[in-house]
Amino acid sequence: MRKKIVAGNWKMNTTVPEGVELAKAVVAKSAEVPSDVKLIVATPFTHLVPVAAVTAGTRVGLSAENCADKEKGAYTGEVSAAMLASAGCQYTILGHSERRQYYGETDEKLVEKTRLALAQGLDVILCVGENRDEREAGRHFDVCKTQVENVLFQFTAEDLKHIIVAYEPVWAIGTGLTATAEQAEEIHAYIRGIIAARFGAEAAEELSILYGGSCKPSNAKELFAQKDIDGGLIGGAALKADDFIGIALSF
Ligand code: PGA
Repeated sequence: MRKKIVAGNWKMNTTVPEGVELAKAVVAKSAEVPSDVKLIVATPFTHLVPVAAVTAGTRVGLSAENCADKEKGAYTGEVSAAMLASAGCQYTILGHSERRQYYGETDEKLVEKTRLALAQGLDVILCVGENRDEREAGRHFDVCKTQVENVLFQFTAEDLKHIIVAYEPVWAIGTGLTATAEQAEEIHAYIRGIIAARFGAEAAEELSILYGGSCKPSNAKELFAQKDIDGGLIGGAALKADDFIGIALSF
């Protein structure tokens, strides 16, 4: 049985005290959520250590939103995978479309980042997804395929056990536009098929594929009811503990 996961991507929101309060509220409400649903909060780097103190020993996992593509050394401003692990993280998001779009994140860099994160024992939440032009041109399948192949095909079926894929159509992120359950499901099933062809049916069956893009309590149920949608990567709605937990209650 593959894992059901609801992960909150806080992006560049909240001060440290606000983030600690939000994490406390998520931990407090997490008891309402069935135990087979994994909850994760992904916070800015500055928040990781104090939020780790809140989530330690609870059922809420801690994720970073990015990590460096270098191991260590003279890379001013970067944060390494080893630093994340030592801060108490168990996960890192990689390849979010905002990083691809605004910070020049390439698939080549993502291979390095993924390799370094896995080497530090972190699980990776790898984001893929097409933008509006690509969707309108009917290229959404090809774009996702290329992103999946460029990064995941550099790894083994064993590595894949530590990777979660998040399908996030860029046109649905923070826009209030959600992919319909059918639009999301057809890409999720397609991605699972690509993984099955390369790594085998068992690896594909075990891979959790999350949907992201304006997911909220009011639409999560329909999305999560789809066969190949195993949960969500939640942006805006993760900034309110009630909404985040409401989404986690939607399986
Ligand atoms: P959103 O963001 O839920 O605010 O659309 C999702 C994401 O970017 O991970």
